[in-house]
Amino acid sequence: MTTPYYLLEEEKLRRNLALIRDVADRSGAEIILAFKAFALWKTFPIFREYISATTASSPDEARLALEEFGAPAHTYSPAYTEHDFPEILRCSSHITFNSLSQFHRFKPTPALSVREGQWGGAPSLGLRVNPEYSEIETELYNPCAPGSRFGVLAEDLPAELPSALEGFHIHCHCESSAENFARTLVHIEEKFSRWFPQLKWINFGGGHLMTRKDYNVELLVETLRGFHARYPHLRMILEPGSAFAWQTGHLVASVVDVVENHGIRTAILDVSFTCHMPDCLEMPYTPEVRGAMASPNPSEGGEPPFSPPSEGAGEAYRLGGNSCLSGDFMGYWQFDHELQVGEEVIFEDMIHYTTVKTNMFNGISHPAIGMLHLDGSLEILRQFSYDDYRSRMD
Ligand SMILES: Cc1ncc(COP(=O)(O)O)c(C=O)c1O
Repeated sequence: MTTPYYLLEEEKLRRNLALIRDVADRSGAEIILAFKAFALWKTFPIFREYISATTASSPDEARLALEEFGAPAHTYSPAYTEHDFPEILRCSSHITFNSLSQFHRFKPTPALSVREGQWGGAPSLGLRVNPEYSEIETELYNPCAPGSRFGVLAEDLPAELPSALEGFHIHCHCESSAENFARTLVHIEEKFSRWFPQLKWINFGGGHLMTRKDYNVELLVETLRGFHARYPHLRMILEPGSAFAWQTGHLVASVVDVVENHGIRTAILDVSFTCHMPDCLEMPYTPEVRGAMASPNPSEGGEPPFSPPSEGAGEAYRLGGNSCLSGDFMGYWQFDHELQVGEEVIFEDMIHYTTVKTNMFNGISHPAIGMLHLDGSLEILRQFSYDDYRSRMD
């Protein structure tokens, strides 16, 4: 394949899926895929071998769930509108509202559900609640920060919930550990358990990074089992995204040019941070580059390493994107050799929150998306052309 391209590895994907299914089997929780992190629908037949549902945040994601995944979605959006709600209704088995006002405005009547519902049932309705406790340190990803627009606070809930509400949805994790979840659950129960007898299900959201090497899977299973023992009538749902696609593939780029300015050397690539790896700039976090070392030591969630490395620390480069955004670069990385034009540079772990977030700013060509199958064969899932750029503005 010619660069640039994302390459998803089936073996690694199946390894994550098997772990997630095992957690679901042993904990009694249903674990569903959040499309916001990963929605390469051509891989859904593989997912269907391990999980049975997905979660959507928009009419299009909900439609993808129904039509491509083959099961109606668990849908949550902070902002349903009259225009999009009929499609949400058609494609969802569960619909979570962000506020009581959204619930009262859109709660479907049984008659409407039957008329609109294509999958043959009325959706179960839920409400997002905000536990005002989260151990997420990056504000951009903290849904429980003071003033957050997500979910209803305990103090604003009526003692008696509307009878049509059957579930609570709580999302307050991001790349979090089982210890984060165990501690957070104490706060969730403290604030919300008085309403549990009125509910049928509870969705603990995403951010449970159970496929990360150091994740304490046993603690997660134990924590969920403990919760189930305390509230056996509540069906537990988890909806991670990242955990499914975590470390399942990479983005392969090539060096196009090397430029120097005041002693700062930048290798310009045929990919862009802002277009193809947006979280690197947004979060920001420093991606791993195969065969190179970030300098100084990158701290996840901290500032990217912008100061030049010390003398004699190898060949140090900023890596620069091919867009016109001045800040479309990161660095430094140290390589053990001088980079040559045409040489490949591989960004590790570039499958989650990439292909769902990429854009065509500057008309820059979008990396192809490939999949390496178990038998070693390479399938090109998608290649992009001028028509894709043009048709966005048809
Ligand atoms: C409501 C909700 N559910 C699930 C997720 C998926 O989270 P992650 O990909 O971190 O597991 C998110 C991420 O922002 C979210 O906002």
